[in-house]
Amino acid sequence: MSKPVSISFMATDLDAIAVEEGRVAVFVDKEASLDQAARRINRLSKGALERLVKSDVFAKAKPGDAHVLAYPAGMAAKAVDVIALPKRADQESARKAGAAIARARGASSMLIMAGPHRKAADIALGLALRNYDFDAHKTANKDDKGAVRLMANKPEDVEAATTPHLAVAEGVHFTRDLVNEPANVLTTTEFANRLADMETLGLKVEILEEDKLAELGMGALLSVGLGSDSPSKVVVMHWNGGAKDASPLALVGKGVVFDTGGISLKPAGGMEDMTMDMGGAGVVSGVMRALALRKAKANVVGLVGLVENMPSGRATRPGDVVTAMKGDTIEVINTDAEGRLVLCDVMHYAQERFKPVGMVDLATLTGAMVVALGHDNGGAFSNDDAFCNQFLKAAAAENEGAWRMPLGKGYADQLKSRIADVKNVGGRPAGASTAAEFLHRFVGEDMPWIHLDIAGVALVKSGTDMAPKGATGWGVMALNRMVADHYEVD
Ligand code: BES
Ligand code: MN
Ligand code: ZN
Repeated sequence: MSKPVSISFMATDLDAIAVEEGRVAVFVDKEASLDQAARRINRLSKGALERLVKSDVFAKAKPGDAHVLAYPAGMAAKAVDVIALPKRADQESARKAGAAIARARGASSMLIMAGPHRKAADIALGLALRNYDFDAHKTANKDDKGAVRLMANKPEDVEAATTPHLAVAEGVHFTRDLVNEPANVLTTTEFANRLADMETLGLKVEILEEDKLAELGMGALLSVGLGSDSPSKVVVMHWNGGAKDASPLALVGKGVVFDTGGISLKPAGGMEDMTMDMGGAGVVSGVMRALALRKAKANVVGLVGLVENMPSGRATRPGDVVTAMKGDTIEVINTDAEGRLVLCDVMHYAQERFKPVGMVDLATLTGAMVVALGHDNGGAFSNDDAFCNQFLKAAAAENEGAWRMPLGKGYADQLKSRIADVKNVGGRPAGASTAAEFLHRFVGEDMPWIHLDIAGVALVKSGTDMAPKGATGWGVMALNRMVADHYEVD
């Protein structure tokens, strides 16, 4: 895959401003005087920059907002993007400023006059995150993006600070590509192949095929894929950058490459969005990519259950009873509640095999989660306050909305089955919490665990600050930071 953005870092060169033929970005602190680059642009443009900065529109500009001077006289540039950004900008407004640059630039080459700005690396990260289009299946109008040159007073320092950020942005783009990809392209086999390709980054990647899954007893996971011509798979990605033989953190993802609902078929309206039902697996894969690219000093294992939920003469029926690897029997009331059947086996396997220090699972698990929190927050369910707070803090720091949701015995009781140990749905009330309680059954007594229901945040219908509409990559940055803050050795 291509890099999230290619930037060359160079020393500030004011003479480059007059001759740049693409766009020029310059930063203005509304409380302070214009910096050198802004003064140069003002002079070249015969005062146009100052008139903009003193205008009513600019008075209303919030940190990170951009205003355009189009085809300024006296310059070769198509436009100057004048960005309101305080010298002491916080991380979020610096990233927003970078994202504004990415939105404005289109196919143009770009000269960014970051000068001495303290948050230049965050500006670059915002640029990288927003510099994303999913145009793999467009035959026309593909932007061939021009070069980006970022000019700073200490370009080596800015480049050093930006490099790990770009690793994370590449992880985010990888997740978005997987989530946006249609299901006839991203079959279980294609998904596994793309993960195997990450061995070149230093990850160890194992693919467990159906015969192996059957031997392990993963009857719940396998029951979901019975109706599909695509074989079910579990892919295990190992990143061992930490202390030798130290237990890893485990990340587990739901990878339903398409969810028709199975025999409990979904209605046609909106079913096309179920190409994103591998979003949890997509995030796990993006985090593993980011950790490998930035050579994180941590041991992390990522496991994804890849299946396709289709109706057919061989598909699981409502009323069927299946046996999970843990041994529990499950009455499948609704074949559309398939994500939990996939996760329960992969989660059990992850704990048995790796004895992880903690386990985080991610899944586009329930429509009820979307009803509860919409598209601004993912739901976090946990049996361990300290572990959960590690995640919530990291998510807040990365501006990825997350909100703690309840578990409880009452929800677990909704899953009692007449004929088996448990059933796979708990009725309408608290659908996200009953789903979480289903998974909880498969979590060991002392295992710190967080379940993230990302049904509402994996894909959005309108663009956000950091992503165009479509897949967001929500969670990659938070989990990367959680690893950096708590699981790395010095
Ligand atoms: N993949 C869906 C959940 C989903 C819904 C994700 C909307 C993203 C957007 C999941 O497999 C599902 O179908 N869940 C059912 C569970 C129900 C049958 C208990 C649901 O939420 O309706
Ligand atoms: Mn479903
Ligand atoms: Zn699903």
